[in-house]
Amino acid sequence: MATQRVTRAVLPLAGLGTRFLPATKAVPKELLPLVDRPCLDYIIAEAVASGIEDMVFVISKGKGALLEHFSKDPYLEQYLEERNQTHLLAEVRRAARLAKVVAVRQHDALGLGHAVLTARPAVGDNPFAVLLGDDIIHNPAKPGLRQLLDVWDQHGQCVVALIEVPREETKRYGICDGTLRGRLMEVTGMVEKPDPADAPSNLSIVGRYVLPGEIFDILERTPKGAGGEIQLTDALAVLASRGQAWGYLFEGRRYDTGNVLGWLEATVGLALERPELAPQVREILRNALN
Ligand code: UTP
Repeated sequence: MATQRVTRAVLPLAGLGTRFLPATKAVPKELLPLVDRPCLDYIIAEAVASGIEDMVFVISKGKGALLEHFSKDPYLEQYLEERNQTHLLAEVRRAARLAKVVAVRQHDALGLGHAVLTARPAVGDNPFAVLLGDDIIHNPAKPGLRQLLDVWDQHGQCVVALIEVPREETKRYGICDGTLRGRLMEVTGMVEKPDPADAPSNLSIVGRYVLPGEIFDILERTPKGAGGEIQLTDALAVLASRGQAWGYLFEGRRYDTGNVLGWLEATVGLALERPELAPQVREILRNALN
């Protein structure tokens, strides 16, 4: 039987962003700029380049600006048009045309698993991708999510993105157990935020997933886990225990923009990728170090 094509993505964007306070008191962390565009803009571009057509934003109170960015703004467009600001006009239009977006609300921040479950009415029984709004995977040659979707197309089972983390940091991540062959891991177990001594590996799940629709039934039955939250990792562990989960050590550079240092690293890294900015950015960095 052919594997069902994945055309929809869920973006859990309802978190409180406490690691980035006070910047995130009024501004969603997913809208913090990386160079000249919001973080989420890069992530949506990755999803679209990977073949995703429909986005489901899971938002909460105070996160309406996330929808504004991806909406048409006739007044702003007219303003730029009248002043022949064609480059900016194209940029403003691009965001609004990038993707079809619907939003669902998560009223209480009960965890990533709960946020994904909130999207159920918009996804139905279909397989879908999940992209976390503060995780950037930079790979101009092959988008991070596309790499995972290729594994889905082959196996038709859950796929998570993997990175190697230092052993002493396993307590910050969901960690996978299994056999790694090349870049592909047949995952047999997953554990959320284990102590280094209990961690089954140093391969951590990061913000990209491809999931079968049946994950929703599993999430409905998933009790609160680490931090008193409904953890997506706990639901994925059920699939792993059935031999229905894969991990993929993706190619590309990953930035965790949800914390101050990760955001700074992403800002500098992405600015250095821009030929029109790179020489001056190098100069600024040299001056700052002197
Ligand atoms: P994080 O823990 O990284 O985000 O959750 P956070 O809670 O916003 O940030 P901190 O830890 O307080 O600084 C990973 C992703 O899951 C979403 C977040 O928006 C983020 O993109 N999330 C998390 C939800 O949508 N709902 C939740 O209840 C929890």
